[in-house]
Amino acid sequence: MLESLNSGAATDPALSARFTLSVTGVSKSFGGLQALKNIDLNIAQGTIHGLIGPNGAGKTTFFNIITGLYTADAGEFRLLDKPYKPSEVHEVARAGIARTFQNIRLFKEMSVLENVMVGRHVRTHSGLIGAIFRTSSFKREEHDIKLRAHALLDYVGIERFAQFKAKNLSYGDQRRLEIARALATDPHLLALDEPAAGMNATEKLELKELIQQIRRDGKTVLLIEHDVKLVMGLCKTITVLDYGTKIAEGSPSEVQKNARVIEAYLGSGPVKTDPKSQSNTSATE
Ligand SMILES: Nc1ncnc2c1ncn2[C@@H]1O[C@H](COP(=O)(O)OP(=O)(O)OP(=O)(O)O)[C@@H](O)[C@H]1O
Ligand SMILES: [Mg+2]
Repeated sequence: MLESLNSGAATDPALSARFTLSVTGVSKSFGGLQALKNIDLNIAQGTIHGLIGPNGAGKTTFFNIITGLYTADAGEFRLLDKPYKPSEVHEVARAGIARTFQNIRLFKEMSVLENVMVGRHVRTHSGLIGAIFRTSSFKREEHDIKLRAHALLDYVGIERFAQFKAKNLSYGDQRRLEIARALATDPHLLALDEPAAGMNATEKLELKELIQQIRRDGKTVLLIEHDVKLVMGLCKTITVLDYGTKIAEGSPSEVQKNARVIEAYLGSGPVKTDPKSQSNTSATE
């Protein structure tokens, strides 16, 4: 299992960097609305870092910026101690960031296996000419991609559905498939946007174990999640956004006690860890 995740990334000398991703002064406006205001964020190598905050706080916007879907109005980025410019989606994957989406984005008519293979193609070399003429190196590469896709499906626990159409998977399994597809690019940083949305308690527990395994296998994880119990149980450090501003950062217990966080989340009273108290879990952007 461990072997299936670490094809190449773990031997990279850049992994001695203290932070996987470091951003400074990131801002983003949509017309008159400032979705992110001068955000600094350091994601320590090999940790699970939580990004939380009420609806509309700017969490997904942050993901969209670091993965090149949106361009920041201002800000500096460093990935593994090197300057990084989030640009085109393929470049972001090559640089070592992969993500899942709050609104699941799969090729629904394609098989589960093919969805993962698509993710893996970012890392291939034969190119278009190889694909057209089906050169021997293309065929070998295609075979390797298929094997690796099966291994990743096994890793996330849905290998038995490899030949199903993606649209026929349960909601929870579609989210696992998105994780497998993201892992197929061999990322240093895996960014998960509400991976537990729509999952039942058992699925959430399994997801928690999967995310912990991914971290143990050497990845850094950035996690947006509304389920406070899950976030508190998984993350080493949590950053809290509210109206595009960073209002708190620290360990789960520090953040939970923070007056601004309590105010932003609940208006009053401590941040509860009972999942039944979390009514704002949403699966839509
Ligand atoms: N493409 C866009 N155009 C205009 N406004 C946008 C766009 N994307 C996000 N916004 C606005 O920016 C703010 C932050 O949105 P964002 O999706 O980042 O919040 P979020 O923290 O992910 O919230 P949620 O928990 O509801 O997913 C919101 O007010 C949202 O309406
Ligand atoms: Mg969001």
